Amino acid sequence: MNIAVIGTGYVGLVSGVCYAQLGNQVVCVDKDPGKIGILNAGGIPIYEPGLREMASANRSAGRLTFTTDLAGAVRGSDIVILAVGTPPLPSGEANLAYIDQAACEIAEAMNGYKIVAVKSTVPVGTNERIARLIRSRTDQPFASISLPEFLREGSAIHDTLHPDRIVIGADCPSAGDTMVQLHRPLTERIVVTDIRSAEMIKYASNAFLATKISFINEIANICEKVGADVTRVAEGMGYDQRIGPAFLKAGIGYGGSCFPKDTHALIQIAGHVDYEFKLLRSVVEVNRDQRFNVIRKLEAIFNGELRGKTVAVWGLAFKPNTDDVRESPALEIIRHLVDHGAKVKAYDPVAMSNFRGLFGHGGGVIWCKDALETARGADALCLLTEWDEFARIDLGLLRQSLNRPILIDGRNVFHEESLLGTDFIYYSVGRPSLN
Ligand code: UGA
Repeated sequence: MNIAVIGTGYVGLVSGVCYAQLGNQVVCVDKDPGKIGILNAGGIPIYEPGLREMASANRSAGRLTFTTDLAGAVRGSDIVILAVGTPPLPSGEANLAYIDQAACEIAEAMNGYKIVAVKSTVPVGTNERIARLIRSRTDQPFASISLPEFLREGSAIHDTLHPDRIVIGADCPSAGDTMVQLHRPLTERIVVTDIRSAEMIKYASNAFLATKISFINEIANICEKVGADVTRVAEGMGYDQRIGPAFLKAGIGYGGSCFPKDTHALIQIAGHVDYEFKLLRSVVEVNRDQRFNVIRKLEAIFNGELRGKTVAVWGLAFKPNTDDVRESPALEIIRHLVDHGAKVKAYDPVAMSNFRGLFGHGGGVIWCKDALETARGADALCLLTEWDEFARIDLGLLRQSLNRPILIDGRNVFHEESLLGTDFIYYSVGRPSLN
């Protein structure tokens, strides 16, 4: 099939590359000439393992091109997939300006029947609004499809090529069938439904996963007080097929560009129809507070005085295997430490420059080049992102680097057995501390 993907952010780029990988003819469009320049030079503007290689193989095979020419891409395609950003407005609502603009440009370029599928996460009713926009600008026939995306950053290619399910929201059965055909090579589990339900499935799924995380984080907080181990509790719960083991890792709370945005947006969506989503409000509140456990532990250790202490921070990305720092709990943790007079040394294997961009360059933080250099001379070390290289660190060398052997593990990376016989004072999340 001939596919145009509009928007080369995470979702657009990964989807475009993977549709090409399935043998389709794909053109990826972005209005940012800088991004298209990087892509046409064989680069990738985001960090995603395996994406560069797959993009380059498909470009060489002639199945994948990149352009700023939206009109040309639309004219040459049967299916147009919208994957532009819907960043949150200050109110928490999704900003639909980019998607509206793209819809207008698509309408003006149309030269015959097209399927217009929306992959961007959009509030219920947005596909209908896009259809109205297009209809008001062209007489050309088209069908609207809601095509929510469930890929995770860091494992985006795997998630796209081996999805748990594909959801297709279609009002027009023949367009729905075409989309089923396009995705059939990926899975048998394809849910075809109406457009509004498909839009809702996306928000409900992210909100449910966020709920699981906040739930296990609260269980962890209670475990700390009653002397239980949350990793064993999660294991024991997860074997129950009705619960499942995924997304029960306690930590410092979820971040990223999706859960924070989509939970807020769903609260707003409910509010617009006079429904207060009380459970989801609590999920958000628990998540906001969870990161401060790291601070509370440090304060308890230092008798409430962070001033003058050197705190090493390992991990700045909102999760491992990505350079994405949007809504990363590390931002607020480091800001708090700096504001309270601590000297912070920080390191992340790939997210350093993104983090510095968002955090600001000066501001009392020493940006380090590797994990051990970060730990050198520190009065405490906080692990905030579970990168493999931290789990594999030589604990003997780490001990030598630190001024005081205090380790606050925000992601439960280390195990009691590996720390036995050392003098580390170790705090993790929802597990007994060692000291
Ligand atoms: C999430 C969803 O998992 C995807 O299905 C969805 O497509 C995507 O949002 C989106 O809407 O675009 P993503 O944000 O890339 O994907 O990352 P996740 O792996 O879901 O992690 C989100 C956050 O939850 C991270 O901060 C992670 O550290 C945290 N998390 C995850 C936990 O604290 N505990 C867990 O058990 C799992």
